[in-house]
Amino acid sequence: MIDSFGRRITYVRLSVTDRCDLRCRYCMAERMQFLPRSEILTFEEIVELADLLIARGVRRMRLTGGEPLVRKGIEMLCASLGERIGHGLDELTLTTNGTQLARFAQDLHRAGIRRVNVSLDSRQPDRFRHITRRGELPQVLGGIEAAAAAGLAVKINMVALKGLNDDEIEDMLLWCAAEGHDLTLIETMPLGEVEEDRSDHYLPLDAVSRRLEQRFTLVPVLSRTGGPARYYDVKELGLRLGFITPLTGNFCEGCNRIRVTATGTVFGCLGHDQKVELRDVLRSGGAGAVDRAFDALLAGKPKGHDFRIAAARPAVARHMSVTGG
Ligand SMILES: C[S@@+](CC[C@H](N)C(=O)[O-])C[C@H]1O[C@@H](n2cnc3c(N)ncnc32)[C@H](O)[C@@H]1O
Ligand code: SF4
Repeated sequence: MIDSFGRRITYVRLSVTDRCDLRCRYCMAERMQFLPRSEILTFEEIVELADLLIARGVRRMRLTGGEPLVRKGIEMLCASLGERIGHGLDELTLTTNGTQLARFAQDLHRAGIRRVNVSLDSRQPDRFRHITRRGELPQVLGGIEAAAAAGLAVKINMVALKGLNDDEIEDMLLWCAAEGHDLTLIETMPLGEVEEDRSDHYLPLDAVSRRLEQRFTLVPVLSRTGGPARYYDVKELGLRLGFITPLTGNFCEGCNRIRVTATGTVFGCLGHDQKVELRDVLRSGGAGAVDRAFDALLAGKPKGHDFRIAAARPAVARHMSVTGG
C-alpha cells in the first residue's frame, strides 16, 4: 500500500472497542454513550480485515481502543492475530490503560505479543483518580508489574498536562529508569469530545524537553519509526524517551500508518476526516470490494494533519487510539 505521496503503509492501529473502564479527562466525557455491539466489528471480521491488510503489506499491528482489554474474549483475538506473526506480520502490540493487565499479561505473551504501551499519567493515587476520573493506581501498577513478569517490555505513555502532572515528569522518568521501562510524553490533542477545555491543560513539550535537558543528556535517536514520536536516549538513565508533539512538531512526512476504528472506519490520518467505511463492505462486499475501498483511502490520504489546540475539530478519533505508539 503506497499513498499518493509515496509513503508505504506498513503499520495499522486497530481499535477493538470504543468502551473503556476509565474516563480520562482529555479523552472521554464522564457520561459516555457507547456503541451497540452490532456496530462493532466481530472478532471474525477483525481477523479477516487483518489478513487483507497483511496481504497488502502491513507488517506491524497495534491493538487499542477505547480500552482493548475490556473487550470480552480479547485473549482469543490476540491468539488468532498472534498466529500471523512470522507469516506476514512482524509484530503485534497493544496499548492499554493497564487496569486489566494483571489478568491478561500471560495470555498476551502467549499470543506472541512482546511489547505493550501502558498509559500512566501520574504515580500519585489522588491525581491518578482525578485525571482518569475513576482509576485506582495500585491496580495499574500491579498490571505493569505482571506485564514485566510475563516477559513483556513496557513503555509508559504519559500525557503531559499543565497544572495536573507537569511537576511529575522528572519523577516519572526516574521511576521508569529504575523499573526498566521506556517513557513517551504526549501533548494533549484536540480529539474526541470531552466536557472540559483541553487548552487549559495544554503543555507544549518543547518547553519540557528544554527543562529536561538542563538535567539530563538527551541524545536524539536518528532512525524514525514512521510514527508520531521523536525519540531520545537519556544518557544518564539508559532509557529511551519519546515525545509526541502534534502541535509543536510535525511528523507527517514519514507517516506509514492508518487507523481502523472499532466500527471498521479506516482513517488515513488522525487529524483529518478522510476515511472509508469498511464494516458494511466486509459484511456484504467481499475481499475485492475491501481492496477497492483501501485503494480509495490511499489515493486520498492527506499529506499531513492540521491540529490547532483551540480549534473545535470533529470527533474523528473517539473510537480509536490516538497515539500510544
Ligand atoms: C485512546 S488510548 C487507548 C488505549 C488505552 N485505553 C490507553 O489509555 O492506553 C491511547 C493513548 O491515547 C492517549 N490519549 C487519549 N486522548 C488523548 C488526547 N486528547 N491527547 C493526547 N493523547 C491522548 C492516551 O493517554 C493513551 O496513551
Ligand atoms: S485514554 Fe485510554 S484509558 Fe483513558 S479514557 Fe481514553 S481510552 Fe480510556
